[in-house]
Order: sequence, then C-alpha cells, then structure tokens
Amino acid sequence: MTKVIKSFDEYKEVYQRSVEDPEGFWAEQAETFTWQKKWDKVVEWDFHNLDVKWFVNGKMNITENCLDRHLADRGDQTAILWEANDPKAPNKTYTYRQLYEAVNRTANALKANGIQKGDRVCFYMPMVPELAIAVLACARIGAVHSVVFAGFSASALADRIKDSECKMVICSDFNDRGAKHIPVKAVVDEAIALGCDSVKTVLVHQSTGDPLAFNSAIDKWWHEEVDHQSAECPAEQMDAEDMLFILYTSGSTGKPKGVVHTCGGYMVYTAYSFKNVFQYDDGDIYWCTADIGWITGHSYIVYGPLLAGATTVMFEGVPTYPDAARFWQTIEKLKVTHFYTAPTAIRALMAMGDQYTEGHDFSSLKVLGSVGEPINEEAWHWYQDKIGGGKLPIADTWWQTETGGILITPLAGVTPTIPSYATFPMPGVQPCLVDTNGVELEGDNVEGMLCIKYPWPSIIRTTYGDHERCKQTYFSTFPGKYFTGDGARRDHDGMYRIIGRVDDVINVSGHRIGTAEVENAINQHPQVVESAVVGYPHDIKGQGIYAYVIATGVISDEQQFIKEVLAVVTKVIGPIAKPDKIQVVTGLPKTRSGKIMRRILRKVAAGETDSLGDTSTLLNPEIVEEIKTGAK
Ligand code: WT7
Repeated sequence: MTKVIKSFDEYKEVYQRSVEDPEGFWAEQAETFTWQKKWDKVVEWDFHNLDVKWFVNGKMNITENCLDRHLADRGDQTAILWEANDPKAPNKTYTYRQLYEAVNRTANALKANGIQKGDRVCFYMPMVPELAIAVLACARIGAVHSVVFAGFSASALADRIKDSECKMVICSDFNDRGAKHIPVKAVVDEAIALGCDSVKTVLVHQSTGDPLAFNSAIDKWWHEEVDHQSAECPAEQMDAEDMLFILYTSGSTGKPKGVVHTCGGYMVYTAYSFKNVFQYDDGDIYWCTADIGWITGHSYIVYGPLLAGATTVMFEGVPTYPDAARFWQTIEKLKVTHFYTAPTAIRALMAMGDQYTEGHDFSSLKVLGSVGEPINEEAWHWYQDKIGGGKLPIADTWWQTETGGILITPLAGVTPTIPSYATFPMPGVQPCLVDTNGVELEGDNVEGMLCIKYPWPSIIRTTYGDHERCKQTYFSTFPGKYFTGDGARRDHDGMYRIIGRVDDVINVSGHRIGTAEVENAINQHPQVVESAVVGYPHDIKGQGIYAYVIATGVISDEQQFIKEVLAVVTKVIGPIAKPDKIQVVTGLPKTRSGKIMRRILRKVAAGETDSLGDTSTLLNPEIVEEIKTGAK
C-alpha cells in the first residue's frame, strides 16, 4: 500500500527526494500495485515534440488494482455507497466483491455486443451506480470510455460521439434529479439522429422504468444484456501507455478537445494523490459531490478511492433538493468522514442561510476538500466554521482535466493552510511561474503564469485524433514546459495562490466553458451578426457569462430576441453555457487589425468602467461609450 506522508517535515523531505530522484520516487509508488509485467523504464519524456511515457512496457489492468486486489482483505467492505435523489429511498451499496462481480458481468456483456480493446464507448448517464460499474467494465476489457456530462445537449453529445467514433452509447432511460424528471434516452436518440454512424448499440439502463421509444435495431436493455452474464471476466492485459479514457473539455479556441489519459501513470497518480491529500484511513466514508461526467468524478469518485480500497459515496441528486440541508443531512446519515465539494456549492448554500446547517451532527467529519475554482476567503471560513466545527483541515485542491489528478494542494491536516491558497505542490510535481516572455520567476512574492516543468504520471498524453493541437495548446506557449492556462502567485514561503484563467476560458459554477464555444453557439441564431463572450465576477457562480451581441436590422422585441439566443445556446451546448447577461450592441471594440479588444469588454462586464485604459487606438473608439451606457 501507498506510503502516506504524516507530517509537514516529512512532506518537505519526500518532496525534495521526488525532485532529486523522480524515477526512484515514482518507481517506489508504482511498486505498490499489481503489474502483470514490470516496466523497463520509469519515464521517457520530451515536451518539445510532446511524447511522454510512464512505466514503459509495463503491463497491467487498472481494474485488477481497483477490484481483484481488494477481494482477499476487503471483499465484504462497502466499495460504493449510493445515495439516491429521493432522500427517503434506501441507500444502495456494493461491497468490493459485489462490485467485482457487477463489473465482470457488464464487461462480458460489452464483449458479447462486439466491444473490443481500443473501441470507444460513450456514456450519457446520470449518477447511478451502473455508471461507475460500466466505466470499470470498459477498463476491464480495454475499451476506452468517454463520459459526457448528462447536462450537455444532444448536439454537444453528437459532436463528442463523432469526434472519437464511439461504437456504443450507454445511457439511462430517465433520471430524477432534484424535482426534475429528465428524459435521458431521448437526448441520446436525438444525438444519434444527428448522424452518429459509428454507434452500433445503445445500451439502456432502466433507472426509473418509465415508458420510452425503443428502437430494437440498435437499442438494448441493460438487464437483458448484463444480468445473465458470468461474474468472471479476465482482465485484458494493457500496456501502461494504452488509452484508458477520453474526457472532453473546453479550451480557448475551437470545439472541445478529447483529453486522453493512459492506464499506468493515471493509476499510480490518482491512488497516490487520493491517499496523501485526503489522508483516508480504513473505515472512513469518503464523499466527493462531483459528477462522474467531469474529471473530478473520474479520479476522485471512481479510480482514486477504489484503488485505495476506500468506501466512496455516489450521490444522484443536487445540493438543494428537497432543500438546502441535503448535503448536511446526508453527511449525518452516512457518517461521512471526508467531504469534497466545489466553492460554488459552498457559496450557494451559504447564501441560503445558516438555518440549514444548524442542528446537524457533523462529528463524523475529519477532512474537508474544495475543488474546481478559487475559493474566496469568506466561503473558506464559512466552510470551516459551519461544517468543520471551526477546526477541520480544508484541502483546496488545484488541478485540471489535463493533469488527471490533484497537483497543488495541502495534504489534509499535514500542510499549514491559509484561506484561498492551494499551498504546495504534490511530491513529484514541479511548478514554476513565468512572465509573458517565458522567463521563469524565481523566489517568493512573484506573480505569473503557472507552468509545470517536469512530467507527472497522470499528465495529458494527447488530444484524441489531433496530437498537434495538444502540443500547440499546452506545450508551445512556453517551450519545454506544460502551460496550465492559469495565473498564480507565490508568496508566504513558497505557497501558491491560484488567481484564475489567463486565457479565454471561464469557470462558471466550477464548469469550464470556452468563450469561443458560446460565441459559436450564439452566432447560430439567424439574426446574430457577431458576438463576444467574456466572464465577469459572480457572487455564487464564481464567474458569470456576459455576451455582447450584434444583431441584423432592428430588434423590435429585445426580450424575445434574448430568449431565442438563450434557447440556441441551450440547444447547441446545454443549459450550463447560457449567458447570465446579454447586451445587444451595434458594434464591438476592435483593434486596427480587427481583433476584438476583450480587455474592454471584461471591464465593462465587471462594472469597472472607470478604468478602461487607453481606447484611442481602437478602430472604432466611439463604440465604447455605447457599450458603457448599455451595460447590464
Ligand atoms: C480549471 C480546470 C480540477 C477538477 C475540476 C475542474 C480551475 C480548479 C482550482 C482551485 C483555483 C481552480 C483552474 C483550472 N481550478 N481547481 N482549487 N483553485 N482554481 O477541472 O474543468 O479541467 O478546470 O479549474 O482555473 O485551470 P477543469
């Protein structure tokens, strides 16, 4: 089992060693896993031509490490503890043995339906245990999972299915989420109708049992395909660098890209970081409130916890259903020891008033976590005071879809913390700050762009189908370094504080959204000529979406027009990308070379109209007045 760091002095020692001898350090971590064949070399890397390999020629299967390995010691321990949307519904549990059997049955069903090693399988599924089960079933047979968050629209789903040519889609019939009854399978039908020719089978899990349109040519019922299968399915032998999964995420340009993670390094890093960041002990109950549609759910609901033999909670519902006490009631009911959530949820629940937290028994809790966006000091203190009894450690974990695991973070209870600081890098992680010329900033009290200068085992390997794009996006801005897209400060004896994105990516309620994507969606409205989307500070969501839209001709009913624009965005991407504010304008501030001056648009959106700076060099300086006057 992974060796866990227990004091800050030990952290400093281990960190030092991990930098001086990364190969020795990671070999030691990797040796704690089951390998079918040991690696020949720990790491081979080249950030210039982008080629990173960890545990070269090692053979393994991540599910043997998540499941088989635990059967002897903890076969009867709960692996997955499922809390339904309806608080009165009984909890569903899977012990490690039951999960092993369920995964193997599902793996056999995938094989029986023609899925082989290397085939891509798309998921469009709410937070039911079968999602985790089928994801692991893919990994068991070497199929590549591509989970699409079930809040995306049919059109966004179709784009993702097509990009990676998925052979199968796994979904639910319907989903009860909060007070909503969502027709999940109908969205998949709509996506398939948009020309997803690669899809041979849609495997439908009956979650609510409501009647639905069933196309017997490609649709199959989960219970008919899975239930009769054998509970033994040999794990496919995978190379450490074989693809484990694809996860689409937004960037500053173009359509979302499929971030590729591979088997060996991802396994070693997610397990190591889970154990060390959360300081999980046997018997603990760990709850991460994310959705498996995002990287947080992949790494810290499914893989990290199961690799560590933990009990991991899966929650189907939302924080405000039936009311804003749901998280707190559930912590009390399940005796949760580790609670990991997003600042946006904390701020939203904080705003509902303290009556929802009062009277709940939080005595089971040991560790709190935060992820997805910067946590402001007020939310940090509220979280620690109201939920953490004024004393529990908070791990403010900074990382990204591309990093696969947590990179900068306190180790709970080990690292000294300051609110809003992600503090120190994990062992094996070598961050640096650079200025706009790529010059590394040394020492403390510096602010710059956050890069990582040495690979860690779960670093992005490529973007699916377009290696060049991956190289361009992450490794070309500052040659020889991985560029995160975030700005950060380093002060207080080397502590890092993440400031936020420095590119055209905005973080709305912890969801990552590309401004270009929203613009492309808005531009599909027939009366839109051009649009520009920026983020602005939002009390609850962290950032809100502000869209400036130029329309053709005269808009007689602006409210109606805005409604239509919102509907287009919902249709093209999904409700999470809907602008909070739309301002109809007659022009956008442009440079003489025709580039939109986003700096000005960001300032106006933030209400900072007094500090617009020099606008005289604009091609159309007169437009600034109009935009200021019409600001929402
Ligand atoms: C972006 C990555 C990491 C899993 C969830 C989001 C922001 C993430 C923090 C944090 C400040 C954070 C960054 C990053 N971010 N965690 N603790 N403090 N900012 O993954 O969708 O890939 O987004 O989220 O801006 O680049 P993602």
